[in-house]
Amino acid sequence: MDSNSLKASNIRTLEGKVALITGGASGIGESTARLFVRHGAKVLIADIQDELGNSICQQLGTQETISYVHCDVTSDSDVRNVVDLAVSKYGKLDIMFNNAGVGNAEASVVDADIKNFKKVVDVNLFGGFLGAKHAARVMIPAKKGCILFTASVSSVLGGSVGYSYVASKHALVGLAKNLCVELGQHGIRVNCISPYVVATPLSREAIFMGMEKEILESVTHKAGNLKGKVLESEDVAEAALYLASDESKYVSGVNLMVDGGYSITNAALRMTIQSLMSS
Ligand SMILES: NC(=O)c1ccc[n+]([C@@H]2O[C@H](COP(=O)([O-])OP(=O)(O)OC[C@H]3O[C@@H](n4cnc5c(N)ncnc54)[C@H](O)[C@@H]3O)[C@@H](O)[C@H]2O)c1
Repeated sequence: MDSNSLKASNIRTLEGKVALITGGASGIGESTARLFVRHGAKVLIADIQDELGNSICQQLGTQETISYVHCDVTSDSDVRNVVDLAVSKYGKLDIMFNNAGVGNAEASVVDADIKNFKKVVDVNLFGGFLGAKHAARVMIPAKKGCILFTASVSSVLGGSVGYSYVASKHALVGLAKNLCVELGQHGIRVNCISPYVVATPLSREAIFMGMEKEILESVTHKAGNLKGKVLESEDVAEAALYLASDESKYVSGVNLMVDGGYSITNAALRMTIQSLMSS
């Protein structure tokens, strides 16, 4: 079936499912909220950007289909409340997408700011842990569920961005592995999605120091492995849709790289040889 006939067939792969998306007010989380609603899910966006979160919900549907909740993922009570709200409002939680994140670009470990390091680990790792902990609490009795994390190519590679970011994303994959083993006993699947660079506020402002969207896309295209395409937040949302849907019912413990092969190649040796030959 080609993509046009697939669209025409109007398949809604998340019909009847309830999804909670942290960091859903912007970037990858926002694109995922849009796609999940289109596919029939009831969505709760949990974020700290209240105005943005509320306005996205107004654009996307009624209070019945999508709503915004203020939730700082580093707060145990905030995360507990939003998970409980999903259950009281819709009777269950099928999909917990732990996506909220912050970035940091410490160039040197010696100069790294301790407070910033802790903040990045707190949001990216501890926030994901809290999301999983509270989701598991309501998913275990239901004997089903899907927990997703947005990790990064920085979950498998070091050196391209700051210490706190790389450490938090590697650790997130370790967290997901443990969860996969324990929660698999209760019918719950746990997976990570690891994108290459997407031009969002996080990457542009916190990691690549205020770079314009077009410039960042051009730079990452040049540095990327897969040519002729630029990774967008919608592409990551499609990966989340697959992992959240029953189409992936036996997929668990995966760190799905959405990186055009970036993480399996290292062109440094070839480029060094080429530059030596041409000099
Ligand atoms: N953009 C990229 O290049 C890229 C690549 C790989 C992975 N990621 C990951 O994707 C995820 C989404 O980031 P994005 O690129 O869409 O950036 P983004 O800035 O567009 O979105 C991040 C969202 O997280 C929210 N957030 C931050 N701290 C929070 C907190 N304490 N509690 C609740 N919400 C909070 C922000 O308000 C924002 O809405 C992050 O985990 C990020 O690390 C991004």
